[in-house]
Order: sequence, then C-alpha cells, then structure tokens
Amino acid sequence: MILEARDIKKSYGNRLNRTEVLKGIDLNIEKGEFVSIMGASGSGKTTLLNVLSSIDRVTSGHIFIEGQDITNLKDKRMADFRKNDLGFIFQEYNLLDTLTVKENILLPLSIRNMKKSDVEKQFELVAGELGIYDLESKYPNEISGGQQQRTSAARAFIHQPKIIFADEPTGALDSKAASTLLRKLQTLNEKSRSTIMMVTHDATAASYSGRVIFLKDGLVYSTLRRGEHSQEDFYKEIMNTQSVLGGVGVES
Ligand SMILES: Nc1ncnc2c1ncn2[C@@H]1O[C@H](COP(=O)(O)OP(=O)(O)OP(=O)(O)O)[C@@H](O)[C@H]1O
Ligand SMILES: [Mg+2]
Repeated sequence: MILEARDIKKSYGNRLNRTEVLKGIDLNIEKGEFVSIMGASGSGKTTLLNVLSSIDRVTSGHIFIEGQDITNLKDKRMADFRKNDLGFIFQEYNLLDTLTVKENILLPLSIRNMKKSDVEKQFELVAGELGIYDLESKYPNEISGGQQQRTSAARAFIHQPKIIFADEPTGALDSKAASTLLRKLQTLNEKSRSTIMMVTHDATAASYSGRVIFLKDGLVYSTLRRGEHSQEDFYKEIMNTQSVLGGVGVES
C-alpha cells in the first residue's frame, strides 16, 4: 500500500461559521494504481487532493504514505517530503515562462546530487515518452497548451516520485490534446509503475484510470474498478454512476 487515509476530516472557517468539507474519508491506494476522484463541483475533490498531497493540513485523521504518517510532520519536513517524493500537475500548467521546456522539466532534479549523464538519461526517457523531446529548447509561450501540459507532466515524473497528484490536468485542454495527455499518463503509469491520483469531472478522462472514487457530501459515495472492462464500457459505468449522483451539477 502506498497511501492510506484514515478518517480524514477537513473544515474551513472559524468556530462560529464552520463548513465541514471532508467528513471522514478512508482510502487505500496500492502502488502503481491510477485512480480518479470524481464528484460534483464543491464536493471536496480539490480539498481531498490537497490534504493527501500535504499542500494543506487535515483537521483530523491520518495519512500514511509508505507507512509514514505525514499528518504530523513539521512544515519544513513536509515541504521537503513534497519536493522529493511527490509530483504535481495542475490545470494551469504552472510552467516558468523564462525557462525552456527542458529547464522546466529538470527543476525537481536541481535539488539533487545527480550525475549529469543520469539526468540526461532520465530527461530523454520522460520527455520521449511524453512526446516533447524535440521541444526541449522552446519556451512555454512558443508551444501549444497540450504541449505545455505534457511538459508539466514530464516535470511531475522526472524525479520518479512516489505519487503524482493531478487536479483537473485536462481542464484547459481540447479533447484531442486531453486524450493525448491521458494516453501518455496511462503509458507512464504502466511502464514506470508510478502511482497517479487525478481529480477530474470528465468521465472520458476518468475512463483512462483503473479506479474511480466518487465523493458526495464529504464522504466516499462509491468506487468503480475498471477490471477487465474495455475503456468504453468503463466510461459507460462512470456515466451511470455520475447520473445517479446528480451528474456534474453543483453540490448545494
Ligand atoms: N480555503 C477555503 N476556505 C473556505 N472554504 C473553502 C476553501 N477551499 C474550499 N472551500 C470550500 O470547500 C468546498 C469544497 O471545495 P473544493 O475546491 O474542494 O471542491 P471541488 O470538488 O474541487 O470543486 P470543483 O469541481 O469546482 O473544483 C466548497 O464549498 C468550497 O467553497
Ligand atoms: Mg476542484
């Protein structure tokens, strides 16, 4: 087991005006899984991803990554852990405009003492897999949105993190660029046995993963596994669950 969450609760606000967003979430994620998190807007998907990835702290409950309880790490240790052991992909690419594609991708390695030849090898592997190797000396504003997001994905994978967290990674992409990215995430997941947790509201995107966890009212509402299903059948199952859940509407 790579990630274990026990009775995660998260509230915002103060004593007088408090909103409980996560009301007791339990999760077990195996190493090498590609998991999607779905649920209506406001159901707490981003909040869950942020506490699992130590961007934000839980109100109560515990998160174990490879058996280590990360919920009580000091800020500095938490920040180091995030940098060394986790990878992130956000909806808005988050690339640095003044760095080239290659420099952006190599950022997570800059804090490491790695042999230059190993850095090059790892870059060739990841950039090659994501189909952006030829763009290495371009700047973010010289490439398409899809290419920028694949650059950002390469940066998330380059240091071989324990888990990659992606919050709506296809949210700003057209459907063609989205499916290109998702196919590549799927391949990297299979080849490198990396673990991916992806928030998405898009059933097509979720159908690339192996398991979908649905949130509702701050709790896990249900879970679907792809198993031996074709991607198309899995997509249909996801759509069915979504419609029972109340579709992609806003949670009141
Ligand atoms: N920093 C914050 N302070 C107060 N309330 C917050 C904060 N962040 C989120 N919330 C509230 O928590 C709830 C869940 O928000 P969250 O962003 O996790 O939802 P989501 O499922 O990611 O939605 P979306 O699909 O729109 O991205 C919402 O009601 C939101 O207003
Ligand atoms: Mg969100």
